[in-house]
Amino acid sequence: MKRITSICAGIILLLASCTTLPATDEPYRPAYHFTPASGWMNDPNGMVYVDGEYHLFYQYNPADIVWGPMHWGHAVSTDLMHWTHLPVALYPDSLGTIFSGSAVIDKENTAGFGANALVAIFTSAGKSQTQSIAYSTDRGRTFTKYAGNPVLTDSVPDFRDPKVFWYEPLKRWTMILAVGQEMRIYSSPDLKAWTYRSSFGAGQGAHGGVWECPDLFELPGEGTDETRWVLLCNLNPGGPFGGSGTQYFTGTFDGNSFTNEAPGEVTKWMDWGKDNYATVTWSNAPRQRRIALGWMSNWQYADKVPTQHFRSANTVPRDLSLYRRADGGIYLQSAPSSELFALRGKAKKQAAITVDRTYNVGELLADTDGVYELEMTLTDLTAEVAGFALFNDGGDRVDCYYNQMERALYFDRTKSGPTAFSPDFPAVTSAPVEQGDTLSLRLLVDRASIELFINGGREVMTNLVFPAVPYNRISFYAKGGTFNVSSTLYPYKP
Ligand code: FRU
Repeated sequence: MKRITSICAGIILLLASCTTLPATDEPYRPAYHFTPASGWMNDPNGMVYVDGEYHLFYQYNPADIVWGPMHWGHAVSTDLMHWTHLPVALYPDSLGTIFSGSAVIDKENTAGFGANALVAIFTSAGKSQTQSIAYSTDRGRTFTKYAGNPVLTDSVPDFRDPKVFWYEPLKRWTMILAVGQEMRIYSSPDLKAWTYRSSFGAGQGAHGGVWECPDLFELPGEGTDETRWVLLCNLNPGGPFGGSGTQYFTGTFDGNSFTNEAPGEVTKWMDWGKDNYATVTWSNAPRQRRIALGWMSNWQYADKVPTQHFRSANTVPRDLSLYRRADGGIYLQSAPSSELFALRGKAKKQAAITVDRTYNVGELLADTDGVYELEMTLTDLTAEVAGFALFNDGGDRVDCYYNQMERALYFDRTKSGPTAFSPDFPAVTSAPVEQGDTLSLRLLVDRASIELFINGGREVMTNLVFPAVPYNRISFYAKGGTFNVSSTLYPYKP
């Protein structure tokens, strides 16, 4: 009897996990952010823009809400904000499950699959990790795996996550691949035959864990017409606050190897929170845009967070550019993509106030249902510490405070709501802030996450939070001085 009951429970669970669920089916289902309808998601994969559509593929286990046999899930959007779920694009096969990778548009038909074929390049994770390709000639709706797979093999155990792009000066494809704790570069005339060119990584940046999910792209240089290459390197563990994190390097690329322009410098982190990982960018985006997307979680606790039918959301898309800091170094700026403005409801403005000790702003966050954008500008800072708390009546709170002496912005989620599901979850994260007269903050609060963009995205902090009910109140506080703050709230508009 006991056995029959557990079989029935298993079947019900399986059916439940296969059902497509509406977007607001549970308290922690976000609104601004992409989530799978049900099942487990990790890394964004194969992001490519073509024929007016942004394609988003992703690491997907449709049968459970924990990691398992990996497929490529699929969704499309015309505006990066509203997504249509499509059937699974790639299923496991005899070479293995389908790990992370990228996609390109083969304009010149170099591979022979047809002009403008959408070609996915991914890791087949079987007995060993090898690289395979699949193509679609119907706008990504169906894929055919190449009969000659795998196209790249090696005996190294961690050999994965190919990011491929066309390198015009040498008229050939380039692949950057994560191999142990380095990135390897290969090239190919046809996406099928690959030649090793170089390795990057020894003695460079953070090495607290294995390197994964690389990206390599060119961006306009800051203030001049020269360009720079940016190498994104996700690593796990070894992130800035434990577990997963994304570091980057800036420098040059000659078609064969990448050179870091500032070796030995401090590690450059793309995000100073705990929940931004596997960040990669869209291929073929219009108007030379370089749009990044991360998986908004951390391998430390991704399979323990208290969502019910799905696990994990992505970050919001972020447009990347370069800027120079006062110290002369070149850094990456990640601004929320401008499409996000269309999701702003009617603005509620709070005129400037002077904060001396604690100041409660009663109504600012009322009626938002835990989904809102909050902009604030802090000026005339004499306070040693200038902070604010988002909180609810149940005592859940997130504290953000700027320490002027340290020039650091802190985010404390130790009392943010239920945190006991993992000892690694309660945390205080911090980001360096450049000296300036004003501090501009833009927060995206979305039921179970807060993305904090500092000074237009010069620094970003992404952290998950699970308040029992939405944070619907805010208070500002100052220690050792005063500051002025004005704020605008935009409730989410679908
Ligand atoms: C990164 C990662 C990748 C791998 C995928 C498997 O989060 O470990 O290196 O391809 O997840 O799901």
